[in-house]
Amino acid sequence: MRSDEADGAEVRTLGPEDLRAHRALMNQAFSGGTVVPDDATFGEGAEKNVHGVYVGGELVAALGIRPYQAHWGENVVLPLGGIAGVATRPEARGKGYVDALLRHSLRVMKDAGQVVSALYPFAWAFYRRYGWDFVGEKRIVTLPLSEIKSAPEGANVHALPTDNADALERELSPVYTVFARRYRGVFTTGTHGWQGTLRHNNSKTTYAYIYKEPGKDVADGYLLWRYGDKGGEIRQFIANTPAAWRGLLSLLHYFGTQVDEAKATLPGDAPLWSHLMHWRLSVKTEPVFMGRVVDVAGALASLSVAPNAPDAVILQITDEHAPWNNGQFGISSEGGKVEMRPIRDAGVQPDVACDIQAFSQAFWGQPSLTELRRAGRVTVSSKETAEEGFAYLASLLPAAPVFTLDDF
Ligand SMILES: CC(C)(COP(=O)(O)OP(=O)(O)OC[C@H]1O[C@@H](n2cnc3c(N)ncnc32)[C@H](O)[C@@H]1OP(=O)(O)O)[C@@H](O)C(=O)NCCC(=O)NCCS
Repeated sequence: MRSDEADGAEVRTLGPEDLRAHRALMNQAFSGGTVVPDDATFGEGAEKNVHGVYVGGELVAALGIRPYQAHWGENVVLPLGGIAGVATRPEARGKGYVDALLRHSLRVMKDAGQVVSALYPFAWAFYRRYGWDFVGEKRIVTLPLSEIKSAPEGANVHALPTDNADALERELSPVYTVFARRYRGVFTTGTHGWQGTLRHNNSKTTYAYIYKEPGKDVADGYLLWRYGDKGGEIRQFIANTPAAWRGLLSLLHYFGTQVDEAKATLPGDAPLWSHLMHWRLSVKTEPVFMGRVVDVAGALASLSVAPNAPDAVILQITDEHAPWNNGQFGISSEGGKVEMRPIRDAGVQPDVACDIQAFSQAFWGQPSLTELRRAGRVTVSSKETAEEGFAYLASLLPAAPVFTLDDF
């Protein structure tokens, strides 16, 4: 168990002896003060992932670091620490306990090789101070089902039995993975919250439909549907081909005989308007969540680049909460690997400078390094090599769509 001292408070990893105190803290913060049941648990496998602050023998604040694996485009998977369950007892708030916990969590994630992190903020400004920033773009869409047309591809849509979640997961996983590899941030099928996704809830069935063409081994899409209180809830809409889009929309056309509208959350690059354009189709755009690079050197080392990329950049990063990222670094590529070494000579001028928030966004790929430069978040110096250095960095950190299918 790790332990750190912060202003007389002990910051440490919680164990089974802390379970009831932790559950009481979570229930007060997130469940309206629900009484702690006798059989309270941290949740399966969560014990070693919860960290807390103890003051005078009392647990006053806690957070969890969930160990996820995130697809990072076609060929890379990165270990990701998902920060969740951040809470301080009301009488202990405003004393910097979450500050201490977030600093501690960055060290824990680095030691665990979790080179990136993500979280859903209660307030964007709060976590921004600690180096996380908004990444990605998702669309929360309200589909007017009666305006969707049926299509011949609808014949390829089949209902799957919903009484065996494990069998369902096995059937959907390959389709999920084809979709996931198009994005940065979608968790691998092994760490996706299938139980939460597929479970029936509030006495309502979660229905599963798959799009599979005759004679093909692999399905090209699926849709998870639940009847909500005010319309339909499309829990996942995964369509990997234009035909799958048409087929699944055709299914929704027939749901339109019962339900006027349904909501879905889609990636920012989903070709929705190419399939359905109507004044009653409403789209709300939001960031996917907040992302951070925990370990810049480790994150860069996980990227693959062209084997003999000749360029280099001197990058200055400001990161006051993760000192190992703070400073000036020479970044170059050797034999298809990206290397980063600190530059201690104060006389060297950087080509490019940014804070960890902007670097994190560029590493995730949305907003891109070029967009961040336009927004004044990344500066390029007047050095002769600076533009070349920026171009090299932009080639390492290309624009890429970010998405996730998990809440945590
Ligand atoms: C959010 C929460 C965890 C913060 O805990 P804390 O121990 O008070 O955190 P810290 O003392 O390290 O930081 C508090 C400081 O954050 C800053 N802060 C608080 N809310 C903020 C916001 N919305 N935006 C920017 N800064 C904010 C303030 O400067 C505050 O200090 P001050 O009010 O005394 O000036 C706590 O209020 C809590 O448990 N809330 C209920 C559960 C919750 O919403 N959790 C977050 C889930 S993502």
